[in-house]
Amino acid sequence: MRNAAITGWGMALPEQVLTNADLERMVETSDEWIVARTGIRERRIAASSDTTLSLSLAASRQALQVAGLAPADVDLIVVATVTPDMFMPSTASLLQRELGAERAGAFDLAAACSGFVYALNVAAQFIRAGTYDTVLVVGADTLTRMIDFTDRGTCVLFGDGAGAVVLQATEAPVGILSTLLGSDGRGACHLFVDGWGTGIVDDEDRTALRRPYMKMVGSEVFRFSVRVMGEAAEAVVKQAGLTLADIDLLIPHQANIRIIDAAAKRLDLPRERIWANLDRYGNTSAASVPICIAEAAAAGALRPGMNVVLVAFGAGLSWGATLVRWGTDGVERRGGGE
Ligand code: ACO
Repeated sequence: MRNAAITGWGMALPEQVLTNADLERMVETSDEWIVARTGIRERRIAASSDTTLSLSLAASRQALQVAGLAPADVDLIVVATVTPDMFMPSTASLLQRELGAERAGAFDLAAACSGFVYALNVAAQFIRAGTYDTVLVVGADTLTRMIDFTDRGTCVLFGDGAGAVVLQATEAPVGILSTLLGSDGRGACHLFVDGWGTGIVDDEDRTALRRPYMKMVGSEVFRFSVRVMGEAAEAVVKQAGLTLADIDLLIPHQANIRIIDAAAKRLDLPRERIWANLDRYGNTSAASVPICIAEAAAAGALRPGMNVVLVAFGAGLSWGATLVRWGTDGVERRGGGE
């Protein structure tokens, strides 16, 4: 059986920090409210020189370096994003050019904050099927460019960033072991950015539109996420033939510490088995899970043989979970690195 192991990881964040104190000067809010209701203390905001592509590129270069691969070793690039720099070509195509990954196919995938978990599983299928050996998977968003900084219900939550992993084929029982992807389009009205797509057919409407902004019914998204995070995580553990006691680390989408705590409670996991960094970065959308992976790996918190659950939710409404057995057993090192 061919499996897809995570052999490289990287992350990139803009330098510009926006603290809760900064937000207090922009909208009617307080550090106390934001920390108590979300757990977020500060977030990174893209400067004019940062784009979804530039952040993706920095994270991808790190991931390839960790894997000991050269860009020419990559067979496929999948970028999960809902904030591409332009409509077309895809961010993945631009990334392929910038990396010089001349052999790679490339496409984007949109599933909002669930995007990276979706992309990881799509990529793993190409490896399992024997189509490709090496896939670069990126989660990247500059969502603050679509945030209305006069709307206190959304502007305190989000930050920008990118994370990347390299997936490689192995015959060993490591890597992506089980998967669940979900969607409930009836909840689309609770979290969306309109005024952006080709659905706007009237030219007058088009020219009257300001920059498109995210709109969210926070309480609805909250209720949904608390339910699906725990359910999805539990399902992939079961699918892998394991029990909740076998989870060594939970890497959840970083949206709200209360959502993470509720999932942890359902899964009966102590805080030390959960990776959380939203206090520093806020919700970075598709980047949040791969940024956590890169941070946790760099901190030595991911060790061979560990069972790691990745779980995310987002606009769609969508959700996804995966059980990863950490390790690179049986991975054939083909490239020589950069
Ligand atoms: N500062 C101060 N007060 C605020 C703020 C703020 N930043 N934002 C909202 N409030 C007020 C509201 O106006 C409301 O006041 P009212 O009672 O006078 O009307 C009060 O606080 C409570 O509002 P709720 O929305 O009920 O607060 P809640 O406890 O639900 O927290 C929050 C709001 C943090 C947005 C929460 O609902 C949440 O995290 N939801 C999930 C959102 C999410 O994760 N979205 C990302 C999805 S991923 C993707 O795909 C992009």
